[in-house]
Amino acid sequence: MSRGAFILLEGCDRTGKSTQAQMLVDRLTQLGHRAILWKFPDRTTGIGHMINGYLAKHQDLNDQAIHLLFSANRWEAVEQLANHLRSGTHLVVDRYAYSGVAFSAAKGLDLEWCKQPDVGLLKPDLTFFLDMPIQASMQRGGFGEERYEKEELQTRVRDLFLKLREPDWKVVDATETIDQIHEKLTKAAQETIQTVASRELQYGLW
Ligand code: TMP
Ligand code: MG
Repeated sequence: MSRGAFILLEGCDRTGKSTQAQMLVDRLTQLGHRAILWKFPDRTTGIGHMINGYLAKHQDLNDQAIHLLFSANRWEAVEQLANHLRSGTHLVVDRYAYSGVAFSAAKGLDLEWCKQPDVGLLKPDLTFFLDMPIQASMQRGGFGEERYEKEELQTRVRDLFLKLREPDWKVVDATETIDQIHEKLTKAAQETIQTVASRELQYGLW
């Protein structure tokens, strides 16, 4: 049986990741695939509730503690993610460990320290980085509601994403239209689905 593909969307806040992730799941489903959306942070778990309280500014936590909670929120999902992939279901994942490192390092934590808790996680098969100028993303609805939605921080986050970028990432111009972006993502996802079908799951982030 062919395994599912792990498709990741990364980027700063308000770059359209969630919209594109949902559209990609719907499209793959229409094309006859089994595909599900997975969002990090997953705010529905116990750890996710703590993260949500922090992001909504209801609760303060020190930078290291929240960093480890974000990572734990991925580790608590890893068996479920692997089971979906093994059973042939594609995962469209909205943020992952690259967000984890980029946001914490942007606050001043050491980059190498930030990478450690996620060492050994499942590796994405395809990563899109939705990129646009921070000035432009700030004009989008809702910007500024949550803790990290500030221009200076987002600018540092973007630089860190670019530093973390792996050679095989697909950098997507997030200022293009929703449909243009969607077509690009669909095409690349279909190619990846074909190439990974007979491959073992990839552990060993980074
Ligand atoms: P969201 O807007 O995609 O729900 O993510 C909430 C915020 O959490 C966003 O500003 C990015 C940040 N974040 C981290 O700081 N570390 C992480 O590991 C993840 C997944 C998100
Ligand atoms: Mg957000």
